[in-house]
Order: sequence, then C-alpha cells, then structure tokens
Amino acid sequence: MNSKDIKMNFQMQTGWEKQWSFSRDESARFAEPDFDDSEWEQIDLPHDWAIRGPFSEENDADITIVDAAGGNTWNFRHPGRTGGLPHLGKGFYRKKFSLEKLPGHLHVEFDGIMANSKIYCNGVYAGGRPYGYSSFMVDLTSLVREGENVLAVEAENLPQASRWYPGGGIYRHTRLISAGRVHIAYNGVRITTKKDLVRIAVKLENPQAESVVLNAEVKSPDGSMIFHSGCEGTSDFSFEFTAENAVFWHPDTPALYTLSLVLEQETREIRFGIRDLVFDSREGFSINGSPLKFHGVCLHHDLGPLGAASNRNALKRRLLQLKRIGCNAIRTVHNPPDPELPDLCDELGFLVICEAFDEWKRKKCKNGYNLYFDEWAERDLRDMIRRDANHPSVMMWSIGNEIDEQYFPEEGPAMTRRLCAICHDEDPTRPTTAGLNNGDDSIRGGLFDDVDVKGFNYKPYIYSIYHHNFPDAPIYSSESASTISSRGEYSDRIFEETGKKADLQIDSSDLCCSPGATTPDHEFKGQDDNPFVMGEFVWTGFDYLGEPTPYREEWPVRSSYFGIFDLCGIPKDRAYLYQSRWTKEKVLHLMPHWTWPGREGKMLPVQVYTSFPRAELFVNGVSQGIRIKNPKKLFGLYRLVWNSVPYTPGELRVKAMDQNGSVMMESAVNTAEEPDHMTAETERCGDMVFVTFSIVDRNGNLCPDAADRIDFTSPAQILAADAGDPTSVKPFHLPYVKGFHGKCAVFLRSSEKTKLTAKARFSKKETVLTLNNI
Ligand code: GAL
Repeated sequence: MNSKDIKMNFQMQTGWEKQWSFSRDESARFAEPDFDDSEWEQIDLPHDWAIRGPFSEENDADITIVDAAGGNTWNFRHPGRTGGLPHLGKGFYRKKFSLEKLPGHLHVEFDGIMANSKIYCNGVYAGGRPYGYSSFMVDLTSLVREGENVLAVEAENLPQASRWYPGGGIYRHTRLISAGRVHIAYNGVRITTKKDLVRIAVKLENPQAESVVLNAEVKSPDGSMIFHSGCEGTSDFSFEFTAENAVFWHPDTPALYTLSLVLEQETREIRFGIRDLVFDSREGFSINGSPLKFHGVCLHHDLGPLGAASNRNALKRRLLQLKRIGCNAIRTVHNPPDPELPDLCDELGFLVICEAFDEWKRKKCKNGYNLYFDEWAERDLRDMIRRDANHPSVMMWSIGNEIDEQYFPEEGPAMTRRLCAICHDEDPTRPTTAGLNNGDDSIRGGLFDDVDVKGFNYKPYIYSIYHHNFPDAPIYSSESASTISSRGEYSDRIFEETGKKADLQIDSSDLCCSPGATTPDHEFKGQDDNPFVMGEFVWTGFDYLGEPTPYREEWPVRSSYFGIFDLCGIPKDRAYLYQSRWTKEKVLHLMPHWTWPGREGKMLPVQVYTSFPRAELFVNGVSQGIRIKNPKKLFGLYRLVWNSVPYTPGELRVKAMDQNGSVMMESAVNTAEEPDHMTAETERCGDMVFVTFSIVDRNGNLCPDAADRIDFTSPAQILAADAGDPTSVKPFHLPYVKGFHGKCAVFLRSSEKTKLTAKARFSKKETVLTLNNI
C-alpha cells in the first residue's frame, strides 16, 4: 500500500445486500472461495430464514425451567413459545465481491446476525458474534485480494435460547465499507449536548500517526450552516460550539441538526438533536423544562407477518400508528434494537429506552444469554451504547429485564454496579435503568441501589410505598398491563381471569391479563394517584411472534395476545382506551359488535372508551341509562360499562356528553346481515403498501364473525397476508388468508404505484375487489 490509499473514499459498496447465496445444508468447505454454491438459493438481505415456515409444534417446543430460588429444573412442552417457526439450527450465506484495487481499509458491518455468527473471508475466519442483537464490524483489510473475493457467514440458533421468536440469519442490514488507511473509527463519532453547547469528538484509526485534515460542518434543522471547522492532526479530534438560537428536540417537534465530517475523501453525515432531560423523583420527567409523562409501549423486534427481517418502512408504519394513539416512548424489549428504530424515533419523535439483556448469568432459557454473559456482556453493552449514543431519542440505557439475579442479594447488586459503571463510563450523559418485577426483593436486596432510574414491571400498588421509603429515587413503569385479547373476540359475559377459552382465543373486554400483571385501568389509577411516577410502557404495542400466554402446552398458538394492535397492525379495542387517555382527540369507541344471532332477549355487556366524561347508551332508540366516569369505581373511571344490555337486533348507539350533559359525539354499530362484499383501506409507507380488508354486508356493516377465505393477486410482491388470528398456522407469505372477525390485511412491496385484486365467495357468490393505483 502507498500513501495514495489514504485518499481512497470511505464508501459503501452498492448492491452489497443483493444476490447472496443461502443454504441450510451444512458443508465443511462452505467458506472456501472455490466452493460450488450454484445450487444454493439466491436471496437479498436482510433475510429471516424461518419466516416462511412451515409452522410446526415440533419447532423449539421444549422448555427447561430453572427455578430461580431453588435451582431446581423441570421440563415440559410449550410449542408456541418461540412461534413454532423453523428457526433452529444453522444457515449459511455466501457473497462474491470483487475489488479492482486494494483499499487502505475494508470492513464489513452487520447490524445483527441471529445468532452465533462466524464470518470468513476467502476461507479465513475473520470474526463473529454470539449475541444475535448486537451490531458489529469485522476488519477484512488483511484478508482481501485484488479481483474476486468471497465472504461466507454461518449463523446458528440453539434450541431453548429465547422467550420469543428470534428470527434466523442475516436479518438486519449489512454494509461493506472501504476507507483510507487513516479513517474514522467504527462508531467513533460522539456528539453530546448540554443546553445549547454542542461537543463533537471524533476517534481516528491512524496506526502510523499520519497527519490528516478533518473538516466538520453543522447544519441546523432549517438547513442553514451554523458551524464550520477544519483542522489538521494525527490523533482524535474534538470540537465545541454554542448553537445560537438552538431549536430543541422534543417528541412533538423532533428538530434534527446534521453534522457532516470530511476526512480527506471520507465523508459521514450524522443527525443529532439538542434536548435537556431531567428525571426527578418528586416532579417526574421533564424535557427542555416541560413535564412529560411516558406514554410508552414495549416493542419486540419482529414485524409480525414480515418476521424479524429489518424493514424500515414497515417499522415506520408501526411507529406512525402508535403516534396516532398518543404513544411517545418505546422500550426495546429485551435487547438492543435494529438501528433503524432509534433513527426513526429521532425523526418521528419518540423517546427510547435501549435495553441490553433479558438474562445475565442466571438462566431464563437453557441456552439463553447466560452462555455468553461472562465473556461478552461488557462488549455487547458498550457496543450498544457506542452505536446509539448520538440519537436524541435515546433517553436511558437499560441493563436488563426481570433478570433472575434480583432474587439473589449476594449476586445481583454487584453485577448491577458493574453494568451501570460500564454505561456511565461509555456515556456519562444518560441514566441507567432496569425493569424489575420483584419489587420487594430487588429493593431489599439492594439490586436497585445502583440503577439511576427504577423501572417497575406491573407494580402500580407499590409506587406510594416505595416513594415513601425512597423519596429520592425516580421511578416509572417499565412494563404495564400485559392485557391479553384477540381482536374482535366477544362473549356474553366479561371475562376477568386469565381468559383461557376452548378455541384458544381471548375475550376482548380488556380485563384479562397474564398472571401477576394488571388491567390498563389498575396502572392508570396507580399513575394518577402517584404523580411522581414518570409514566408507563405498556406490554406491548403490537402482538408479536411467540409467547402466546396464557396458552402454554396448547397448539396451534403462534403469537402473543398482548398487543394494543394485532399482529398485522389492526387496532384492538384498547387502542381507543389508550388514545382516550394519551391524546387530546375526541374519542368514542363502542364495543362489542351487535350481531348475535340466537341471543335475542339475552343480556350482553357493553363497554365504551371515550375522552368524554359521560355517555348514554341506546338499543334501537331505547335508553339503557347514562354512565358517568366515577372516581370511586375502578372499572367506571377510565371506561364506561353497562353490564347487562338486552340484545335485540338493530342498532346499538352511544351518545357522549360533556360535563353539562350536552351531546358532543355519537357512535353506533348495527346488526349485520350476510357477508356481501369487501371494503379496503390502504396505507403506503415508502415502498411498502398495507391494505386492510373488511368483510361487510350489503349495507356496509362489518360482519363480525366472517371468516371467509380471500385470495390476492398483484403485479407487486405480496410479502404477507394475515388476519391477526394467533391460532392461524397458514404461512404468512402465501397470498390468501381467512378473515378473522371480519378483517384481514395484506402487505405488498412496490416502489411504483401498483394494483391489488382480492377475490372471495360470499353466500356462494364470487366477489372481486380491485384496488388500482395504490
Ligand atoms: C414480563 C416479561 C415480558 C413478558 C411479559 C408477559 O414479566 O418481562 O418479557 O414475558 O411478562 O406478560
């Protein structure tokens, strides 16, 4: 190499993610450059090898439970725990790439490979990562040659390694990056702000201490240049300036500055924000001097029917849906997120808790993170922080969720101290947190002592006691509710228990929750009675693959019931409950449906979620009485309930009123006749098109029991067709689906406007709906 190499571009190989070869068959020579992969499948990345199924109750079905307190173990089968998809075992990838000239430096970046990855370049082992959620880079500089090169990747999922669907393979983005011999280090730029003071630190890789010039430019959110500096040197650079008339970042006004760096020919752009966060034990949380409650949700990393493969536009659609119900914060459970998430949250305005682990040394899963903790925890934690520290959306680092060390005072506190010290060392500007469900032991055992901001999982009833004992400790609910329901599933009574039913569905009364959890109402009350609590993170924003609580040994159940939205993004009833609490919108939502053939004259419960203080209910114009939000009644304070309403076919109508009894808004549901046709709603987000279908009668009323099959055709790629039914084992990518409670959804990919045709037979009559220009 000569000095010319230093001037080579820092550039991303275009097309790097296209046309990889993939196989699930093991071959000892797979990493060798001359290995014949002509029979392998051609795929594009990101790629989740398991999402196309088929589902089976044999996939990752066994569980070994380790009793945290006593160390006893026992085994049983829980077929749906990780989703019943074929993610276990090994997968192999190969990519040929050619270099005209050797660069001064070449590395490959992976945002995450699930899991236990091993990377080979031209047959030589180059690096890898056990933890599937960590981003990492592998230096290829000394392994590549001019002309053709081969990168080979092995990934392996062990059985019993996860409590949810992990996905399989190179499921997040990867980049091949060439740079000069002197270059900016991987994750080597750190931007910090204090009020309007901005500090930029740039780390260089410069083994021979050559002199280089670095130029930095900062543009304000309106695009005007507010800072420029050029300097020459041989080691790390730093800049500091005051942003005049600073525009502050806030979830409601997510203003972003842009830093551009030029090191010789190497260029980088990094967005950042200026904001001031205060976590106060008495006043709660505030941003830029104004109080703000976390109206948060926990999000697992999968994108429902699209699986675990990174898809920025699908993630953006989810965030926009959450935004509409007033959500302003995300906790990335229980692992470092796809880097697209904090990036989108910067842009759309969400606060983020990045969480590192679900498990430390003590097992939750036989082959979970406990296998790697000693060797990798520090590196995984530091890497998460280095990668995400420039995001204004990121507000706290979580060192763990319900880790079992909370039960062991002789172990937990020392480990907490160490992990928090690592976080503070990497980033002195943000607090640490952890989500703990064993409030008592964690407090008594001292596990919480070193965590800056204490996260309680499902403990609304201990906020006041804890605050009384520890008035200086800031607290919030890191996990709340865990309400379970199947969208559109109602019965003639309101279930209040775990809600198990013979058909493996869960009633949608929003009163069922997983053991040890609470209803939304319990949490609301806990927050309202204790204003110092900084807010909540609801378990969960969307249904996710795996963890079909309360069903454990049953099959088929392949996804959870926890979501505010179902697996394909259709809102469940409680979306309106949260919207009525989290926004200033006028909300009036009536449930259940009003189509109960055979139940004429019988009593049914009716519930209303509304932002108004009172409402009157009518059946076919006959008043069923007024309900007024009542602070003395938990299930009458945040929702209005009529326990026994006589069913007569026709119209169920609610009129919402203000304090004075003036009618402000009305809503009604009508008894539906036979399914007659379909209606559709379309949403486009970049190259992704999301279409939600409803099966309706001739008058346009939703048919709440319709389960007819709908077949789809489109010139675009149909990525998935699903209806949010947790018991369906139809592979998502097949272009048909049965309606679930009258609805279903189709996900298409097309950068151009496209068309979609849906065909079904209702009452023996073929019905076609064609959507053009979507
Ligand atoms: C919590 C746990 C979550 C999820 C949830 C289900 O205790 O942290 O990961 O399992 O329960 O209710």
